[in-house]
Amino acid sequence: MIPRQTVDKIIESARIEDIVGEFVTLKKRGVNLIGNCPFHNEKTPSFTVSPSKNIYKCFGCGKAGTPVNFVMTHLSLSYSDGLKWLANKYGIEVIEKETTPEEIQQRNERESLLIVMTFAQRYYNEVMHNTDEGKSIGLSYLTERGLTSVIIEKFGLGYSLNEKKSFTKAAINKGYLPDYLVKTGMAIVSKNFIEGTLVTEKDIFDRYNARVMFPIHDEGGRVVGFGGRILGNDKKTAKYINSPGTELYSKNKILYGLWFAKKSIQQTDKVFLVEGYMDVIAMHQSGYENVVASSGTSLTVDQIKALKRFTNNIVVLYDGDAAGQNAMARAIPMLLEDGMNVRLLFFPDNDDPDSYSRKVSNTEFVNYVETKTEDFLIYQARKLNSEFKNDPIKRAGVIKEIIENIALIPDTIIRSIYVKECAQIMDLQEQILQNEINKLILKAKNKNQKTISEPINVEEAPTFENVKPEPKTENTKISFEAEEKKIIELLVAYGNVYIQNVTIQTDDSNDEKAKVENIDITLGEYIRLDFNADGICFENPTYETIYEAYQQELHDGNMPDLNFFKNHANQTISNFVIEHIINVPSLSNNYEKKFEISTPKEINNLNEVVFKTLLSYKEKKIRQYISDCNDMLKEEYDKTIVNAEILEKLIYLNEKKVQVNKKLGRTVTK
Ligand code: GTP
Ligand code: MN
Repeated sequence: MIPRQTVDKIIESARIEDIVGEFVTLKKRGVNLIGNCPFHNEKTPSFTVSPSKNIYKCFGCGKAGTPVNFVMTHLSLSYSDGLKWLANKYGIEVIEKETTPEEIQQRNERESLLIVMTFAQRYYNEVMHNTDEGKSIGLSYLTERGLTSVIIEKFGLGYSLNEKKSFTKAAINKGYLPDYLVKTGMAIVSKNFIEGTLVTEKDIFDRYNARVMFPIHDEGGRVVGFGGRILGNDKKTAKYINSPGTELYSKNKILYGLWFAKKSIQQTDKVFLVEGYMDVIAMHQSGYENVVASSGTSLTVDQIKALKRFTNNIVVLYDGDAAGQNAMARAIPMLLEDGMNVRLLFFPDNDDPDSYSRKVSNTEFVNYVETKTEDFLIYQARKLNSEFKNDPIKRAGVIKEIIENIALIPDTIIRSIYVKECAQIMDLQEQILQNEINKLILKAKNKNQKTISEPINVEEAPTFENVKPEPKTENTKISFEAEEKKIIELLVAYGNVYIQNVTIQTDDSNDEKAKVENIDITLGEYIRLDFNADGICFENPTYETIYEAYQQELHDGNMPDLNFFKNHANQTISNFVIEHIINVPSLSNNYEKKFEISTPKEINNLNEVVFKTLLSYKEKKIRQYISDCNDMLKEEYDKTIVNAEILEKLIYLNEKKVQVNKKLGRTVTK
């Protein structure tokens, strides 16, 4: 951990124009500097640097941030590595706080393991180039598969000798501990080894023999694992051996190729997802650098998260065989649910990107990739109309699958476009489709499943099954956006300003003791108490994130100010603050001025603004709850809902509504 004082010093020293200037050519334009955006392709510069605000903002792609944000984004560093990068540039010494001896130990072990992996990568590469076996078997295998020497070196490929201990011996000669060779997964212990005793040279063997070696890099470009492929196609042995889970390598988190792909993913705003090591490499050789593989596992949530930091657009290129199709069917819903735009690409005759790229010329390959990519929905609908044209049961199955997939899309507008298109392709009434999708969304909501989708309201229309009447949903989806935004703005700009003479109800009962009257507290604490008392949380996830970060900081005994948000490690927070609070021209002067010099008059005014905002927010919430309850009562067909419970809740909510409106009336007329 970097001590707080050092963090502050780094943030104070870092000048946005210096930092960005190292990566982008900047020209003066008025008080600002302007250049070509490093995050998206553009012909006319819209990437603006403001030395006075010490932030950057691109008016093309919308990216914005502080110096730390910039190095984090551009160099793909963590917050603390970003700070260290800046510290190094400005000659600030970083002495990290070492909390416990275990942490130091762990850190040193991690570093030692990384060093072993770097050694292993070099070792296998040298063996491939400098031994007879390496050259005649390993290198020639890769060359026969069409790899150029440039690409072999770019990916750091190598070869492991057909010997039991060649790597182990070389590593131990170099002074690496046998224990670390086991912990990196590069060596395995023999059966005779007695658990708990010290690992020595005689106890261990190389994990990889007679395989071509594909190093696996983490996002910072460090080797953390290997995939080793047998030569030839012996069906009896595993084709690939991958590193076991280690402290450095977790197969669920790492995407093969991301280190080489991220810049290109950012520039093209698109990523290709393939199945294997060779596919990634072949795509590179064909000119596509924005490609990753989820080697050996089906796609995981963590891998999707990693991709989403770079782009929302994904093209899945899985094999056309049954295994590939199944993997695809699992991956699509996960990607859609995360808001990714999913497109698919299949190669003819069960080819994969690697084998196809070697069958055709480069021009043909590129042409195929550019023209044969299709939207997941078109693909599914096409399947429906060709393969299952005359099989009503299979057809119904595919329609169900399509509907389930569309219901996962969190964005209402995108979802409705899909509904339209889908209805057209399948020759179905749009409203029927929409009703079915709404049903799924409501069902997921009632089950309390995590889903961001909100149903779209449509007129009552016949349903698919034509069995049960569609519950009539009133158009009562209330938007809380304005109030929530206002509350967050107040919190960010004035959270540490004291408001005076407030009365707080610390719990929900009408017990007088639960009331604390006439106290002076900060606006931030007031919002917290008020929210806790009513069990409210924000609907907008960004606001919820900001609110939680604020609470955490209060909890840690610090008083967050505007800079806390602006320089926050979580980019969602800093970006929001920069884009909506500091960098909005009409607000900018106002807010910064108000923030720096809060006159007593403004603070008084603040009291009222806060109360009014919170009350009208609550009033809306209550209205929404009441309407939800009414909707539930109408859903007679769903017998799982206990009506008495809902009625009770309704009575309570109506009481609450009267209370809040009374207070609101008072505040308004004051
Ligand atoms: P090549 O035959 O070298 O072109 O490999 P491929 O990528 O075409 O192989 P395949 O489609 O069979 O497998 C896709 C990916 O799954 C591979 O790149 C590996 O990451 C993984 N994989 C394949 N076979 C095995 C195996 O036997 N064991 C493990 N652990 N992973 C495998
Ligand atoms: Mn292949």
